[in-house]
Amino acid sequence: MVSIPGEREAMSTLHKLAVLLLPLLVVMLAARLGTAQPESKSEPEPNCPRKCGELNIPYPFGTREGCYLNDSFLITCNDTENIPYLRRGNLRVMNISFDGELEVLNQVAYVCYDKSGEIVDGLTYSLQGTSRFPISYTRNKFTVVGCDTYGIITGSAGYQASCTALCDDTQYLTNGSCSGIGCCQTTIPKRVTDFNLSTGSFDNRYRVWDFSPCDFAFVVKEEVYNFSTAHLSNLSNIRELPVVLNWAIGNQTCEEAKINVNNTYVCGKNTECYNSTNRLGYLCKCIAGYEGNPYLENGCQDIDECKISNSCNRTCHNLPGSYNCSCPEGYEGDGRINGTGCSLINVPNKKFPFINIALGISVGLTVILLLIAFILVGVQKRNITKVRANFFRKNGGIMLQNLLSRSENSVQTTKIFREEELKKATYNFNDMLVVGEGGFGTVYKGTLADNKIVAIKKSKLVDPSQIEQFVTEVKILSQIKHPNVVKLLGCCLETPVPLLVYEFITNKTLFHHLHDESRVSSIPWELRLRIATETADALAHMHSTTQIIHRDIKSANILLNDDYTAKVSDFGISKLVPSGKTHLTTLVQGTYGYIDPEHFESGNLTEKSDVYSFGVILVELLTGQQVLSSERTEKNRSLARYFTSSLEEDCFFHILEDRVKQEGNVEQLKGVAEIAKKCLKMKGGKRPTMEEVKQELEALSELEGHTLVEIQIEEREPLLGEPLAYYDDTASSGLDSMRNLAAFQINSGGR
Ligand SMILES: *[C@@H]1O[C@H](CO)[C@@H](O)[C@H](O)[C@H]1NC(C)=O
Ligand SMILES: *[C@@H]1O[C@H](CO)[C@@H](O)[C@H](O)[C@H]1NC(C)=O
Ligand SMILES: *[C@@H]1O[C@H](CO)[C@@H](O)[C@H](O)[C@H]1NC(C)=O
Ligand SMILES: *[C@@H]1O[C@H](CO)[C@@H](O)[C@H](O)[C@H]1NC(C)=O
Ligand SMILES: *[C@@H]1O[C@H](CO)[C@@H](O)[C@H](O)[C@H]1NC(C)=O
Ligand SMILES: *[C@@H]1O[C@H](CO)[C@@H](O)[C@H](O)[C@H]1NC(C)=O
Ligand SMILES: *[C@@H]1O[C@H](CO)[C@@H](O)[C@H](O)[C@H]1NC(C)=O
Ligand SMILES: *[C@@H]1O[C@H](CO)[C@@H](O)[C@H](O)[C@H]1NC(C)=O
Ligand SMILES: *[C@@H]1O[C@H](CO)[C@@H](O)[C@H](O)[C@H]1NC(C)=O
Ligand SMILES: *[C@@H]1O[C@H](CO)[C@@H](O)[C@H](O)[C@H]1NC(C)=O
Ligand SMILES: *[C@@H]1O[C@H](CO)[C@@H](O)[C@H](O)[C@H]1NC(C)=O
Ligand SMILES: *[C@@H]1O[C@H](CO)[C@@H](O)[C@H](O)[C@H]1NC(C)=O
Repeated sequence: MVSIPGEREAMSTLHKLAVLLLPLLVVMLAARLGTAQPESKSEPEPNCPRKCGELNIPYPFGTREGCYLNDSFLITCNDTENIPYLRRGNLRVMNISFDGELEVLNQVAYVCYDKSGEIVDGLTYSLQGTSRFPISYTRNKFTVVGCDTYGIITGSAGYQASCTALCDDTQYLTNGSCSGIGCCQTTIPKRVTDFNLSTGSFDNRYRVWDFSPCDFAFVVKEEVYNFSTAHLSNLSNIRELPVVLNWAIGNQTCEEAKINVNNTYVCGKNTECYNSTNRLGYLCKCIAGYEGNPYLENGCQDIDECKISNSCNRTCHNLPGSYNCSCPEGYEGDGRINGTGCSLINVPNKKFPFINIALGISVGLTVILLLIAFILVGVQKRNITKVRANFFRKNGGIMLQNLLSRSENSVQTTKIFREEELKKATYNFNDMLVVGEGGFGTVYKGTLADNKIVAIKKSKLVDPSQIEQFVTEVKILSQIKHPNVVKLLGCCLETPVPLLVYEFITNKTLFHHLHDESRVSSIPWELRLRIATETADALAHMHSTTQIIHRDIKSANILLNDDYTAKVSDFGISKLVPSGKTHLTTLVQGTYGYIDPEHFESGNLTEKSDVYSFGVILVELLTGQQVLSSERTEKNRSLARYFTSSLEEDCFFHILEDRVKQEGNVEQLKGVAEIAKKCLKMKGGKRPTMEEVKQELEALSELEGHTLVEIQIEEREPLLGEPLAYYDDTASSGLDSMRNLAAFQINSGGR
């Protein structure tokens, strides 16, 4: 940043804060919870099939792309027979429950012998490939049935166990008991995902063959299998039995998932998270008073207790997560049917005065004790509270509150947060949650109590003399409601510097997508044009409705969400133009490479300064080059200069990024370059307004035309008789000829 001597009006971080705070003002009055922003977390498509045969298939499970969380949760439904299978492991699914249980069928391992002890039939069974979902250790039992039989289970994670079932005579057998006589059962440890079952006989059955010709071993859901002596001879017609698997989301704990920067936490609103007890991952459940699918953003819905018969003896009132029952007039208490009931108000107490005196004394003593305790605690607390209140005042909280209370009729979308809330949301401003850092301050990713994910900006210190202006600016910014401007949800004024709470934008910045090495050229031309148009729209809207000059337009301040919608952010150093003025004299702030040269020299700030910076972004989108680069020659170090000189030298197409060259239609490329050229004029007065820029960009988006490559090919068609070498031309020389063809001439004068 450059400061111009004599400039009195030092822009402070205060302004940034203020801008952010605006929405807050509006909201303060009413919206405690504000409108819920949909998170861009993965939600299933709306029209997913949720049944296969009799089975309900709730999200995160699903039967086709877009309907399940990821392929661990894919269930295939055989169209002809309507039979659901868990794709991984190919297991028939019987039941899915939200508490992490998945019932599937697995097979019975067995060996049958003939009278002479020869094996006549058999099967060893393995359950493989479900690896994500372990077998429930609480719900299943490894079971062996037979009278001369052992069974062995070998599980993943090095688990091995055996069970032996013996009996010489049927008289000792008991139905329903698996204690080793004819039937043996044992538990399964945690974390077993795959297992192999085998079974066999100790002496080939010659003594027991009459009543027990086979050996059986299987894993089964506990309450499903009830041993009966009849099974010894006749279990072989049961080939499949249910087993319960434990499913869970991911392999992180709740805490890890909540702070995962990749936004993988899937529990929706009004939910609680709990760790899976078997292996890794977590599960969600609706909090008390709510029901529904906790894995959907709005899955948990309030239970209307009043509709459930007999909640109340009298009138019932449903509340979010709860309900209450009113008592008849003259009565008070809890009118719930199983509550304490209603009792008469003000029943005169006709007991002995002794009792009242004793009561009075003990109450009095209690009150005194309480008071003392209160004072002791209070002394400690007061300092903290005072400090907070002080900050609140210093940070313009009172002014904001006043402003807010006056703007009652405006739609309230902002909220004043308590410091505690935000501390909790960011695990006490844990460094792990920092998602951005810069001259303006630090941005944390936070999760509010209702699981909403937000960005919390902790700005740098505020200059006390600027409070009033800060507050005014926040107020104005709070009124900006534009799909391409990052929304301010609220702020917290109890800290030394105000904290601003924004909607969380998931997909990093335009800068990141254009210049990060691992992502080079990740954005197609069509998308670039859309991002430019959306950004122009946001700026035009701001200039025309609020007179706010952003002052720091750059690709790093254009955030993208998952579908690459542009969101202009960081009004940290924005400036409000008082009505009646068209420019301001101020300290020059901004980012090198994007600063309007006129503003830089004169200190005069107008909305045309944003237009210049926007021009630089257009060039960035066209060329994919960094705004300042030491790889270019000294003269061309600045991208704006590099671009204008390429126009002068008529080699504009050379500097386009390869991807843009290939995808962009020539008319659009020309058009955008033309706009950029106008935006980058030295004299602010000659630059177009953002509104004009926006309209031109919109018109260009609708143009249809040919890409450079297509034109090249058409151009060469008549030359088919020429030597082949001609076609081996490099792309850029081909572009030269195309440039002439397209008669593309951008006037290099007029600067
Ligand atoms: C459905 O099941 C039948 C019989 O088991 C089988 O022939 C058919 O191929 C299956 N269809 C699909 C789509 O898997
Ligand atoms: C599925 O499981 C739930 C809860 O465990 C149970 O209430 C329901 O009856 C089961 N459904 C089937 C078809 O087994
Ligand atoms: C089960 O047996 C198969 C084949 O013998 C083997 O590849 C696999 O590792 C075994 N699985 C376990 C859990 O022991
Ligand atoms: C166990 O139950 C079966 C029928 O389910 C019966 O035939 C058999 O006699 C019973 N055995 C004993 C020992 O009670
Ligand atoms: C198992 O069977 C026995 C006798 O047949 C019966 O008394 C018992 O209640 C059954 N247990 C279960 C859990 O079904
Ligand atoms: C085996 O059990 C089935 C029913 O579970 C019965 O219909 C069948 O007759 C039995 N077979 C023998 C040989 O006992
Ligand atoms: C499925 O998603 C979870 C987290 O949501 C992840 O941990 C797991 O690795 C994913 N599995 C696959 C196969 O992508
Ligand atoms: C969790 O899952 C991810 C993605 O599947 C994997 O890269 C990572 O190693 C797993 N972590 C643990 C502790 O298993
Ligand atoms: C976030 O996702 C990226 C790429 O998908 C992965 O490399 C990184 O490990 C993930 N981070 C966390 C904390 O899961
Ligand atoms: C989940 O597990 C982690 C580590 O095992 C523990 O610190 C955390 O308190 C658990 N969370 C819940 C909600 O149980
Ligand atoms: C409902 O309230 C009336 C008095 O208002 C009481 O007599 C009656 O027993 C109550 N009924 C129940 C089910 O609590
Ligand atoms: C009244 O019933 C509800 C649900 O039926 C239960 O949650 C609550 O604990 C009961 N209250 C009392 C005082 O028994």
